[in-house]
Amino acid sequence: MIDVLFLPERISQQEVCVVIDVLRATSTIVTALANGAKCVIPARTVAQAKRMKVGNVLICGERGGVKPNGFDLGNSPTEYFGVRGKEIVLTTTNGTKAISMINAQVIYAACFLNLRQIVKRLSGHMDVTLICSGQDGKVAYEDALCAGAIVHELGRDELTDAAKMAKELWEIHEKGDLLGALLRAEHAQELIKYGFSEDVSFCAQKDLYDTVPIFSKDRFVAE
Ligand code: MLT
Repeated sequence: MIDVLFLPERISQQEVCVVIDVLRATSTIVTALANGAKCVIPARTVAQAKRMKVGNVLICGERGGVKPNGFDLGNSPTEYFGVRGKEIVLTTTNGTKAISMINAQVIYAACFLNLRQIVKRLSGHMDVTLICSGQDGKVAYEDALCAGAIVHELGRDELTDAAKMAKELWEIHEKGDLLGALLRAEHAQELIKYGFSEDVSFCAQKDLYDTVPIFSKDRFVAE
């Protein structure tokens, strides 16, 4: 059975979960690992991230969309092209919070940038829960769209109602332009207002990377 949670909730005892935060946390995680970061360690708070700053570590993320004082990098995926060999500690408002709520045997991070590879990995698993991070407790269009794209590409018959809804949302946009679809998202409009329109365009690229982040102990590494 394929299920979609449009908002994160505490889940446990799941076999395979996929966390999605297209704008921008999972796009950042995928980009960092694709560009040679050793790992991405989610942190819940800014203070916790600051305590983890040692040696090879970059502390990164956002609050209110912008880089907190004293951080090395913000949450724009395009800031992560020069991170080879670095350990990234990442704290974001919704994405890393969603990750902290999941207890599963396998957790992957997905976005449009790694869509094809995520679908390949999932094809070996019967039961999969796709978890959308949302935005401040509200359903986020872009996450539901990406979940729908995954469901569509998986081509399974056993879908929950939520998975069917996400799939049908994707199928409205499937043949059109992905950036145009992402621009319907409230969060995309907020990012543009704060000067991050390039991030929205970057995150609207399908299959840019083959990297599949998998959660191991306390961190994402490239599988
Ligand atoms: C989040 O995790 O809340 C998002 O990634 C916010 C953002 O766009 O930076």
